[in-house]
Amino acid sequence: FQPKRLAGKRVLLTAGPTFEPIDPVRGITNLSSGKMGFAIARAAREAGASVTLMAGPTALPTPFGVRRVDVRTAQQMHDAVMAAAHGQDVFIAVAAVADWRVANASAQKLKKNADGDTPQLRFEQNPDILAAVAALPQAPYCVGFAAESENLLQYAEEKRRKKKVPLLVGNIGHETFGRDENELVLFDHDGYKHLPRAGKQELARALVAEIAGRLPG
Ligand code: C5P
Repeated sequence: FQPKRLAGKRVLLTAGPTFEPIDPVRGITNLSSGKMGFAIARAAREAGASVTLMAGPTALPTPFGVRRVDVRTAQQMHDAVMAAAHGQDVFIAVAAVADWRVANASAQKLKKNADGDTPQLRFEQNPDILAAVAALPQAPYCVGFAAESENLLQYAEEKRRKKKVPLLVGNIGHETFGRDENELVLFDHDGYKHLPRAGKQELARALVAEIAGRLPG
């Protein structure tokens, strides 16, 4: 028996990578599979929540009962999230959002040229979706993720403070991308708590229970 700890709550999530075009057939992405975010969406729905999932490019199936919106770029993910943020109780930012997009993306396919010249890409910064939601006047309870290759304890707590979110979840080991298992550390104003190595779905359920226990009221 699983208690419906999020009954009546609305949960919004981001998951997966983003894809930043270089030209109509090329782009820049990352190794996020979306598995952790999709597992959390499924767990939140199991816990009774009404769940909306903003998904970057991934072939994962939509969890039962979850409303899914597919997006490609960080800007599209930002716009979809901001349009849906009002009235949400919880926002969980699991997506590996590209920090930069190509400022001079080409409308036509780039061609090799005889001189061997290579394209010169310029980058501009993408909006920080998590920080934008956390800064809303009636912000939902915001949960961020951190995947660091070193100094996780220090960087994750710094990130929690910088983005002004009550809960920041650190992936232990950056080689979590694409795997079926994970290991997490939860940082909040009281300190940190370890969720030991387990399957992503089991960890997702544990994380949803931790979030439910922290909601106001
Ligand atoms: O700053 P950094 O990318 O390390 O922070 C990771 C957290 O912030 C994750 O929760 C990620 O989903 C979120 N994020 C975001 N928008 C961005 C960059 C990161 O929502 N542009």
